[in-house]
Amino acid sequence: KFPGLALTPPMGWNSWNKFACNVTEDMIRQMADAMVASGMKEAGYTYVNIDDCWHGERDSLGFIHPDPQRFPSGMKALADYVHALGLKLGIYSDAGSQTCGGRPGSRGYEFQDALTYASWGIDYLKYDWCNTEGLKAEGAYKTITAALRKAGRPMVLSICEWGTDVPWTWGQQVGHLWRTTGDIFNCFDCIEDHGTWKSWGVMQILDKQEGLRKYAGPGHWNDPDMLEIGNGRLTPAEDRAHFSMWAMLSAPLMAGNDLRSMAPETKEVLTNKHVIAVNQDSLGVQGFRHTVKDSIETWYKPLHNGEWAICFLNRSTLAVVVHHNWKTVVKDEIFNYELNTEDNTYRLVNLWTGKEQGTTTGMLKYVLPPHDVLMLRAFPPAGIAGRQ
Ligand code: DGJ
Repeated sequence: KFPGLALTPPMGWNSWNKFACNVTEDMIRQMADAMVASGMKEAGYTYVNIDDCWHGERDSLGFIHPDPQRFPSGMKALADYVHALGLKLGIYSDAGSQTCGGRPGSRGYEFQDALTYASWGIDYLKYDWCNTEGLKAEGAYKTITAALRKAGRPMVLSICEWGTDVPWTWGQQVGHLWRTTGDIFNCFDCIEDHGTWKSWGVMQILDKQEGLRKYAGPGHWNDPDMLEIGNGRLTPAEDRAHFSMWAMLSAPLMAGNDLRSMAPETKEVLTNKHVIAVNQDSLGVQGFRHTVKDSIETWYKPLHNGEWAICFLNRSTLAVVVHHNWKTVVKDEIFNYELNTEDNTYRLVNLWTGKEQGTTTGMLKYVLPPHDVLMLRAFPPAGIAGRQ
């Protein structure tokens, strides 16, 4: 893969969750405009990613072309437009004969497609896993990564294999992120049964990340799928919880809503700079679930300078009073960090209000509404800042 890319989890927008196959160049341009106008670009979002169904046919020489009705100006023109806004353009293909949406896949055309994408000025490739009978995931993804290297244009490679072939064990050398699960479903706590396959609510996806944090780091991230924030099903608290947990997981932050018509509450969630800073922290250490008690989960994420993100998540549909004794030592056994609030007093900032929230002394008592979070950033006293 290309080194030096996605040193923090990639941030952007993707068409699939909201629009599925209804993609056009006009809509992508408008989305890029909206990314700038809404303040999302300023908040760190960079990639404008077209998912499935942009494709037309291969020509007699095997070159892929975009659908001439949906993308009449061609991909190069679209990439130029997106680049002129200071953003990057992502595209989608599939390791098999056809994409999940039945469009031409890259199987047998990997090197040719990589050259084509490079010539268009593409910056990010999401590579799906439908119609791959007879293929081994690791080998198939290694082929496309070799093709991208050969084409010479730096591109992020997003491995979209849904976790069956344990991509976290081989993905680090091959791509910059790998999907850990099947598709997210737009609900907080439910499973959608499609008969032969299932999709997962926000909490179900969260539970499936257990044990994977050791595989993530700068340039190689676990991908628990794209965001459903602003897509009309989650409550404001659930939107906050979804965003907070994706930040704690060092997940790619790919908005999946219509950026042209965002409610102010949606924009506030997606552009919360404190929460984004937790996600984008330079240490690049994925957070972990430490305690589960009375439907409250307590999550921790080590940050640079000896700072920590701490997130209390209420998974119940009722309000719960969080009681947390700060006289405790939390250890990150995998990456060897320690948060010792027993011997040290940390200053706390509430990342959703942006306000000071006291210090790590005594007991924290806090009423947490249903499906909501209390997300804090803990700043160490001067003496232990920067120490591991
Ligand atoms: C399956 C992927 O997991 C989704 O994110 C999306 O890319 C669709 N395929 C497109 O068909």
